Amino acid sequence: MKLIEAADYADMSRQAARMIIEQVKEKPTAVLGLATGSTVLGVYRELAADHRQHGTSYRLVRTVNLDEYVGLGPDHPNSYRHYMNHHLFAQLDIPLHETHVPDGLAADLGEECRRYEQLIDALGGIDLQLLGIGRNGHIGFNEPGTPFSSTTHVVELAASTREANARFFPSLDDVPHYAITMGIATILRSRRIVLLASGEEKAAALARLFEGIVSPELPASALHLHPDVTIIADQKALSLIP
Ligand code: F6R
Repeated sequence: MKLIEAADYADMSRQAARMIIEQVKEKPTAVLGLATGSTVLGVYRELAADHRQHGTSYRLVRTVNLDEYVGLGPDHPNSYRHYMNHHLFAQLDIPLHETHVPDGLAADLGEECRRYEQLIDALGGIDLQLLGIGRNGHIGFNEPGTPFSSTTHVVELAASTREANARFFPSLDDVPHYAITMGIATILRSRRIVLLASGEEKAAALARLFEGIVSPELPASALHLHPDVTIIADQKALSLIP
């Protein structure tokens, strides 16, 4: 596990964007695993700015997102499909049909999970997976206790996760209770993983991660089992590491 200490959020975002741009330049048909949330927004702004200014092309890139809320469709302003279209895909030259997000409206959610796993395999696997981290150490929506052997599955969101995400919804009651997420085993199959952490509210999770104990109680600790993980964290997120 490699740690890059960033000065602040902007520096973290720039460094992560540079890794993604290098990946796309090296392999124009790269499969990018993407995340939503606040942490990665700066990265997406950097990618959009670089595309506008330097013309980095995503015409042949394919993307797979980590997760989606159950019950929210592409037109819902809080769906992750909507977030991705708005914050990233509409800013790049990537064909929308090459971008993939689990279908939160699927009639058969179990079948949707199987389809998503097969899709990732059919794309040839993920070259670079971008991750944020939850305050409780979750990655994707894999909450504490999720087996490391998990593949794409439906999860009931932890109360703390629903509360953390309520800031994006009109009220806590509007936050869905279920989501589809890539599993830990799915994430670990990626060839390269980049995890971002910014701000004091992530400091406790990062401190636990760097203790080095590998346990499903801290889902992100599964990353210790992967050979190519880079963590880019800002000073506030690193503030509890001795
Ligand atoms: C989002 C995701 C989550 C977030 C995590 C951090 O697709 O999978 O694991 O990365 O909850 O969220 P923020 O960045 O909003 O603090």
